[in-house]
Amino acid sequence: MLSNEQNRLLTRVEGDAPMGLMLRRNFWVPAVRSARLQAGGAPVRVRLFGMNYIAFRTDDGRVGFFDERCPHRGVSLTLARNEDNALRCIFHGWKFGVDGAVLETPTQPVNSREFAQAVKLNHYPAREAAGMLWVWLGREGEPPAFPELEFMGLPQSHFNVRLQVVPFNWIQGIEATIDSSHVGILHADWVNGLGELNLMAENTAPTYDMKMTDYGFKAAALRPLNDGRSYIRVTQFVFPWYSFIPPSGMTTGDRLTIISVPVDDTHSLQIYYRYNISRPIKHDDWLALKNPDHFSPLPGGYDDAWGQDRASMKDGSFSGFKDLALEDFVVQISIGAIADRSQEHLCLGDQIIVRTRRLFLQTLERHQAGEDNALSSARQTGLRDVRSVSTIVPEGIDWLDPSVAASAR
Ligand code: FES
Ligand SMILES: [Fe+2]
Repeated sequence: MLSNEQNRLLTRVEGDAPMGLMLRRNFWVPAVRSARLQAGGAPVRVRLFGMNYIAFRTDDGRVGFFDERCPHRGVSLTLARNEDNALRCIFHGWKFGVDGAVLETPTQPVNSREFAQAVKLNHYPAREAAGMLWVWLGREGEPPAFPELEFMGLPQSHFNVRLQVVPFNWIQGIEATIDSSHVGILHADWVNGLGELNLMAENTAPTYDMKMTDYGFKAAALRPLNDGRSYIRVTQFVFPWYSFIPPSGMTTGDRLTIISVPVDDTHSLQIYYRYNISRPIKHDDWLALKNPDHFSPLPGGYDDAWGQDRASMKDGSFSGFKDLALEDFVVQISIGAIADRSQEHLCLGDQIIVRTRRLFLQTLERHQAGEDNALSSARQTGLRDVRSVSTIVPEGIDWLDPSVAASAR
């Protein structure tokens, strides 16, 4: 349970909220799929941390990331012409280079050069990796190190990225992804259909263990099995929003990383990376059918319980939802846009959640005291071997034993 003040510190990211300031200052933010930015094409509006931006790609392939509003009189630059490797506002024709420089101000005929130099358009460092554009919104000082994660640098055939904006706070997204205790229950339909994941349904009350690291933590769900062996699932969390989820089928070797990024206080961008480090991922229905920018459209609301199918529940479905991500999203939406963490009754199965909240609050506290530790100062490099584990081991093997990580497929 958190106090209202702690909950506010943990969740709020807009304006001068300390968490938002720390995240923007110290971390690169995944913002938009690279493929949405066509050379010479329409600028794309992006909302992050309660602010609106535009991203665009010039004819020669460079990417710009600006505040959304034209510094002249505020027209949205989503309407701007993308020409000559620059953006031209359609209201009075002011023109901006990809680096944010004001190149022309045609409605200021006198001293136009000096005038243009005095105008400021906020622009931000942007880099592309793993099919996404990442931006640094820090504004002051130098950008932090760019994250080096397992799925970065893979050939295009080996990963897929899917996005969905959802109406709940970013921390709820993180809490859902690191919460192994709900998997065998909320996702029972899915678990039952998948080989070894039946083991989760066999034992829905695993014991948990957690090890803090200098990039975040490893969290293990340990399930003793009837035959004496132990089913181990290790989630890894890279501060501040990367959850490496244990593989959902040991045979495929595909991995899943979910990123929960603040859009504003009440919305977040959920980014699902599916990838395989050794072979192309299989293009199944999930990948083929869904709009990559809205991979799980959210139907309805309270009035129709988001389309929950009661008939299918009588027929054997546990949740009444067909889609795994939709199950997670609907549950979080129903909690409310910002969960009231002063009203919860936490149990043993929530240990990881409790420690994660503490980790965020302590990191923020240290950051505010001017004492940047490894987390808040963004240890993001050298993390290519951070990965989740799903494995069965003989009795008595510690989950931190190197053989456990090595046995992960
Ligand atoms: S508002 Fe953009 S040029 Fe006038
Ligand atoms: Fe889930």
